Order: sequence, then C-alpha cells, then structure tokens
Amino acid sequence: MIGLRRGLVHGAKIAALGVSIPERVLTNAELARTIDTSDEWISSRTGIRERRLCRPDEATSDLAVAAATDLLSRNGHHAEDIDLVISTSLVPDTLFPATASIVAERIGAVNAGAFDVQSGCTGFVYGLATATAFVSAGIYDTVLVTGAEALSKALDWQDRSTCVLFGDGAGAVLVRPSDNGSIFAFDLGNDGSGAPFLNMPAGGTRLPASHETVDDRQHFLRMNGREVYRFATRRVVESCQKTLDDAGVAAAQVDLFVPHQANLRIIEKVAAQLGFSDEQVFFNLDRFGNTSCASIPLCLHDAMAQGRLKKGDRLLIVGFGAGLTWGSCLTRWEL
Ligand SMILES: CC(C)(COP(=O)(O)OP(=O)(O)OC[C@H]1O[C@@H](n2cnc3c(N)ncnc32)[C@H](O)[C@@H]1OP(=O)(O)O)[C@@H](O)C(=O)NCCC(=O)NCCS
Repeated sequence: MIGLRRGLVHGAKIAALGVSIPERVLTNAELARTIDTSDEWISSRTGIRERRLCRPDEATSDLAVAAATDLLSRNGHHAEDIDLVISTSLVPDTLFPATASIVAERIGAVNAGAFDVQSGCTGFVYGLATATAFVSAGIYDTVLVTGAEALSKALDWQDRSTCVLFGDGAGAVLVRPSDNGSIFAFDLGNDGSGAPFLNMPAGGTRLPASHETVDDRQHFLRMNGREVYRFATRRVVESCQKTLDDAGVAAAQVDLFVPHQANLRIIEKVAAQLGFSDEQVFFNLDRFGNTSCASIPLCLHDAMAQGRLKKGDRLLIVGFGAGLTWGSCLTRWEL
C-alpha cells in the first residue's frame, strides 16, 4: 500500500478536523495605538486586518488540547484509539518535554506515543507527511496531528516589523487509513543556509538564557522579512509544481489551494505563477494573521464552513517557514 514513487503515498486520509480560536481580537487600529504603525501599512503590505491572542495563562499545548478536544467531540473518535500524537508548532510550551506528551496526557490518549515536529511554520505539513507515512505503512491506524501556536508569547511587541504579522490559534487533524485509495503526494524541502533569516536567537544551547540575552531581547522571534519573502515566492511555487507533477494533476484540476497564511502578496504572487484562479485560492489571514503551524488547519475549517471545501475535492496545501523549510501536499478531501 505504500509509495509508488518518491513523495507519492496511497491509503491514508484526513478523517477528522478540529480547531481552537482564541476569543481576544487584536485589530490593526488597536496595534497602532501602542506602536508606530497604521492599519493602512499593515493591510496594504500584508492583507492582515486583525489577529487572535490567547489568554496570558494559556500556552501552546492549551490551544492544541482545545483543538484536539473539538476534533474528538465533532467526529465521534475516541482518545484511547489514538496511536500517535504529533504536535507541530513554532513555539512549544518548553524546550522539553515535547508539547505532544502534554497534549496526549491532557486529552486521554493513553495508548499513544508522542513527539514534536519542529520545522518552523511548515510544521503542520511535515507532521501530516509523518502521520501519513505511519498510516500508509500500516504501522498505526490513528494519528493525531496538532498545529498550535501561542505565538503572541514569543513576539517582541516593541518590534513593529514582526509583531503585526502573527497571531494565535490551533487546528488538529486525524489521519486514518483510507478505503478508497486517497492519494497523498508530498514534497518536503529545506535550505538551512536561510536559518538566520527567521529564528529565536537565544534560549537554546547556542545562546543559553542570560541577563544579557534578556536585555538584548533575544528571546523573541526575529525575521528578515525581505529575505523570507524572496525565499517564499520561489520555493513555494517550485514545491507545488513538483507535487502536482508527481501526482499527475494539473493546476486547473485542483479544487482548492490553501497556502500558508503569511502575507496576501505572497499568496497572490504564488497563485498567479501556478495559474490558479481567485476561486481556487483560499485565505483567511485578514482575520487571523500568520498563525504558523495553525494556519492551514484553520483555513481548512473555514473553507468547509463556507462550502468551499467539499468531500471529493482535490486539495493542495503548502507551507513555508523557519529553517528555511517548505512543504506541499496534494490530497482528496474526505470529510
Ligand atoms: C514583512 C513584510 C510585510 C515587510 O514588507 P517590506 O515591503 O519588505 O517592508 P520593509 O521591511 O522593507 O520595510 C519598509 C519600511 O516600512 C517600515 N515598517 C516595517 N514594519 C512596519 C509597520 N508595522 N508599520 C509601519 N512601517 C513599518 C520599515 O521600518 C521600513 O521603513 P524605512 O523604509 O523607513 O526603513 C514583507 O517583507 C514580508 O511579508 N516578508 C515575508 C514575511 C513572511 O512571510 N514571514 C513568515 C514566514 S513563515
């Protein structure tokens, strides 16, 4: 049942979806009252109008647990049946233990193994690929993948070049065997030479926490926006094209294209280069900003609610982010 060729796998599907959306809305206008920015600058350069913020007492695992609980309550699946929990996030609860361990324990996945996937904002696609490989190989039946971010805790709210871009939220999917041969085509990539362009400099073994690192504000997300923009527009197009080619699917045959929600200008440029019409492209970053590993599942949830993603549709998703990493996946939507 496994791969016909590199990047192409049969026999797995996304069998359930859940989300967690923090209540607190932070608008561009509100941000403009605390830092030197404007609604006009943010919305014209990025397409973002508002984002959600978790509560001060919430961490990444709290949002992941809420999304997983939403998934389990909607779809009649049981936590005890989960074989593996994969948590994806840019900013986990702690360096260790894995956030997945906390999530599994909190939802009652007592029979599951658990680990984190760290591949920047591409984490959800990497996690989905990992889950699909386990299920397609017949190793596990039921794998939970969460994409959750309490990113507001890792932003420098004095740095207008980054803090306006990101938001909090979470999504979760369950990957299970597919009876009708749903196909997953994947492309995963990495260019570690871009590591300095998007990172959190301190807090790991390279630069352990010290008074100096705190004073220098090195425990927050740092980004070279122009370099990331250049990287994203090139690699995302290449990756999507490779995945479409591997699956033997033309852009016109894709029902919905869901790219990582970083910047509307990136989305529009990429979509145009791939030849997608406006009707094929989904975005909700105007309401959520960049929620990193949560952005794709939050879009899937919205797209279903709006009737733009239906059972049987051909879905193409693509992520990119710190690493620098990228990853795309084509599948048939089974929900
Ligand atoms: C971040 C991004 C929107 C910045 O747009 P840009 O056109 O490259 O803007 P620049 O960084 O060159 O800054 C242009 C000016 O706007 C200013 N500026 C930056 N942030 C601002 C803000 N929030 N409000 C007002 N002005 C701002 C800069 O200081 C600069 O001013 P200067 O010309 O006087 O020096 C853009 O680079 C981008 O989207 N990059 C990709 C980021 C991304 O995808 N990250 C997620 C990866 S997962």
